[in-house]
Amino acid sequence: MIKFDVKEKTALVTGANRGIGLAYVEHLIKRGARKVYAGVRDASTFASLKAIHENVEPVLLDVTRTDHIQALAKKIATLDLLINNAGIIHPCFNGADNAAEIARTEMEANYLGPLNLTLALLPALKKSRGVIVNVSSIAGISNFPSLGPYSATKAALHSLTQGLRAELQRDGMMVAGVYPGPIDTRMTEHFEMEKAPTSQVAERTFAALAKGEVDIFPDSFSEQMYGMFLANPKELEKTFGGMIQ
Ligand SMILES: NC(=O)c1ccc[n+]([C@@H]2O[C@H](COP(=O)([O-])OP(=O)(O)OC[C@H]3O[C@@H](n4cnc5c(N)ncnc54)[C@H](OP(=O)(O)O)[C@@H]3O)[C@@H](O)[C@H]2O)c1
Repeated sequence: MIKFDVKEKTALVTGANRGIGLAYVEHLIKRGARKVYAGVRDASTFASLKAIHENVEPVLLDVTRTDHIQALAKKIATLDLLINNAGIIHPCFNGADNAAEIARTEMEANYLGPLNLTLALLPALKKSRGVIVNVSSIAGISNFPSLGPYSATKAALHSLTQGLRAELQRDGMMVAGVYPGPIDTRMTEHFEMEKAPTSQVAERTFAALAKGEVDIFPDSFSEQMYGMFLANPKELEKTFGGMIQ
């Protein structure tokens, strides 16, 4: 079993300017990372990220932009940990009139972006026998109908995680998936649910990697729902179906 401690390691976090991504950056520094590339779409957030610690280097990265990905792959020669965290959500039912348009936009950011970035950085990650962490969602384990297309993008990311894990094992690499329930960020500001803090997601992710755990359910909601899924997948489908508002 591969175990991974972030101390003295070099990491890249996407969507690093706020929410879960920012918590990942802060906790990487707290745990002694040597260098943290903080990927952001908006260069005006560089200063506040640099202020966190001298080991944080903000980099311009829209994961849907091939030119950004290529420039970054050229720049980063050494990488131990890639956290594909950036994501978007447009709440919408699977059968809504605009579902196909929303699905295309969300697939670009939530699935194709992480896939393209991972492929571009794979040579550097293979060299270091590195780790890939994909931030999916509990909605990627079973479709949450009022977040229909979003759930499908997170299921795609989950599937990619499983495939890469098997494939990259022979290179001594670890590929982990994080499957949060409701977390207190801008993404969920209009959701009336109990939400876990972002720091908990970061803490539980790094604690899990240190133990070699690759399926990470970082809050009590996701833990409970995944328990239901393991016992009876149909039960979780019905439960999420019953949460339609
Ligand atoms: N919050 C939850 O309850 C929850 C639950 C399950 C899974 N997740 C997942 O956790 C991840 C982080 O979400 P969050 O809750 O922290 O949301 P958030 O506060 O809305 O942050 C999303 C981050 O992703 C960035 N981003 C969006 N599109 C991007 C793109 N094309 N390229 C690069 N960066 C992009 C945003 O940058 P800008 O500031 O430039 O927009 C922002 O930094 C997402 O993948 C989300 O799906 C969240």
